[in-house]
Amino acid sequence: MAEIKKVAVIGSGVMGGAIAAHVANAGIPVVLLDVAAKEGDRSAIAKGAIDRLLKTDPAPFMHNKNARLITPGNLDDDLNLLADVDWIVEAIVERLDIKHALYEKLEKARKPGSIVSSNTSTIPLDKLVEGRSAEFQRDFVITHFFNPPRYMRLLELVVGKKTSPDVAKTIEKFCDVNLGKGVVHCHDTPGFIANRIGTFWIQQAINSAMDLGLTVEEADAVSGRPMGIPKTGVFGLVDLVGLDLMPHISASLLSTLPPKDAYRDIARDVPLFKKLIESGYTGRKGKGGFYRLDRTGGAKTK
Ligand code: NAI
Repeated sequence: MAEIKKVAVIGSGVMGGAIAAHVANAGIPVVLLDVAAKEGDRSAIAKGAIDRLLKTDPAPFMHNKNARLITPGNLDDDLNLLADVDWIVEAIVERLDIKHALYEKLEKARKPGSIVSSNTSTIPLDKLVEGRSAEFQRDFVITHFFNPPRYMRLLELVVGKKTSPDVAKTIEKFCDVNLGKGVVHCHDTPGFIANRIGTFWIQQAINSAMDLGLTVEEADAVSGRPMGIPKTGVFGLVDLVGLDLMPHISASLLSTLPPKDAYRDIARDVPLFKKLIESGYTGRKGKGGFYRLDRTGGAKTK
């Protein structure tokens, strides 16, 4: 079984940055790459992510000094940093076309035999590896971390038809022993296990809030502690996940679920999501979402 001594995370957003921090917590050096900034320091996006992680609550790092184990960079100038990496975790935007373009680059830049995984929430593994070489497919799995990665023990592992058993074993052992995860094997089905259930719950709770004309606070009061989500409730959870991710998750599920799946009956657009996203309110990762807004008078969810 191969040993994982160095990791790279691609995408330094909500999940990528925090996954890199959690790998650093295990004492493993991590390369963190994002797109090149258009002006100034070209690695500013990944560097900015590390600065934000140091101020995030709850803390993604066990000790702030673990941040030193992360080497930030950008995908235009620093692909050479992948040459001695044993596991590359892809955590970029939830869009198949963008992930495909990145994998094409990774085919050339990665060390032969290194493991590549995606943190996708809903895109089937079969679709992710479409068109990739036999070697890439052999070395590819989905490792679906949950938010926030340091604190959520669950990790969904999806192994493809062509993934080598050794790759699956190596990743499972590393995530279990080094990262302290409870690894659950999932079939390559829409939304795997947690999002197949979780997305249904989120959509149904939001629909009910809209139909009943509840305020965000009222909806969160009933969908939070009483339903076992003590810190947030449904709208707080969407703020944590990122408002802009939700439509991608929904679209991806609708394109893969069986024709009679119950989610199809409840899936609907939430105009307030669109309005907030367009005004830059993407959730906690940006300038706020449903919370941290000036909602004088108690904003309705419609
Ligand atoms: P995000 O929007 O916070 O971050 C995405 C990052 O990808 C950004 O830093 C962006 O600059 C970068 N990026 C954009 N285009 C790129 C490109 N062409 N090449 C390389 N990097 C690019 O996204 P988030 O929420 O971290 O999601 C990342 C992945 O993790 C998605 O697949 C998502 O479904 C999954 N995920 C998200 C969870 C959440 O709670 N937000 C939970 C579990 C999985």
